[in-house]
Amino acid sequence: MQARVRDIRGQFDADLAAVGDATALAVVRVRYLGRREGLLTLLLRDLRDLSPQERATTGRAVNDLKGHVERGLEAAAGRIDAAAATDPGLSPLELSLPGRVRRPGVPHPLTQVRETIEEIFLEMGFALESGPEVESDRYNFEALNIPAHHPARDSQDTFYVDGGLLLRTHTSPVQIRTMESRRPPIKMVAIGKVFRRDPFDATHSPVFHQVEGLVVAHGITFAHLKGTLEHFCRRVFGRTLSLRLRPSYFPFVEPGAEYDISCIFCGGGGGCGRCKGSGWIEIGGAGMVHPAVFEQVGYDPAAVTGFAFGLGIERIAMLKHGIDDIRLFYENDHRFLSQFPA
Ligand code: PHE
Repeated sequence: MQARVRDIRGQFDADLAAVGDATALAVVRVRYLGRREGLLTLLLRDLRDLSPQERATTGRAVNDLKGHVERGLEAAAGRIDAAAATDPGLSPLELSLPGRVRRPGVPHPLTQVRETIEEIFLEMGFALESGPEVESDRYNFEALNIPAHHPARDSQDTFYVDGGLLLRTHTSPVQIRTMESRRPPIKMVAIGKVFRRDPFDATHSPVFHQVEGLVVAHGITFAHLKGTLEHFCRRVFGRTLSLRLRPSYFPFVEPGAEYDISCIFCGGGGGCGRCKGSGWIEIGGAGMVHPAVFEQVGYDPAAVTGFAFGLGIERIAMLKHGIDDIRLFYENDHRFLSQFPA
């Protein structure tokens, strides 16, 4: 019996030394500790047949061997795990693999410009207002002194929706909505999408963004309008530029004007392509609120005056960043967007 114990120990040591992976180890474990045929299991069973004295001495040797086998199997398992963790072919954690780079996004250039514009007007004490993109004829045209027969409708052809509704062609309807729901003094800007039946080319888009401004109170003058626009343009373009107002026509203002800034590319000297040699770049339309508009919203034109102005966000963004094609804003091409880190 003692000899058998020694044989099994020798055999086990040899078997264990030959083990190279987890599968081979499992085979060895079963060979020695398997519940039915395991060599050690059988050995323990045979102890029953010995005399009490023999059982005492041989039992100790068998228990010794059992400890030896268990420790040997455990050590071999540890070795195999450690080898797997450093073997590049087997490791679940591949430390040499290049990491996945996360590229945090930034706000779209139009959103950035919009936020800059909002900030400037908030600084000047304007409130932010908004209105629906699907408008009624009354808010988009009628109440702005543009009756059905008026030729001004031609330049603002739009998309019509069932039920007499349309996609607003400008943000000016927010002027009417705000005046209807408030009493003067009013000092607001509204920013949002507008729609026109325009071609989609380098300088036009059927959807774009406008900023609308309206100030109504007792004693508001054209000088307030000019000062506001001049301050705004200087804050946006960050330099000392001049502002010029040219007479123009919008049915909801009187007098009406278009306003230009001195060319930010050539400094106003002319002789540059961006301002077509004129030294001036057009920004938007403006004027004093027409008395007919005040009457539409129930204000007394003898008691209050006001000014209004509009401008396009795309246009500002294109000038600010030297972008020559409006379509770039809507294509979501990462090569374009990544040029405008916030
Ligand atoms: N709503 C006009 C347009 O879209 C711009 C404008 C706004 C003109 C306010 C005057 C006053 O063309």
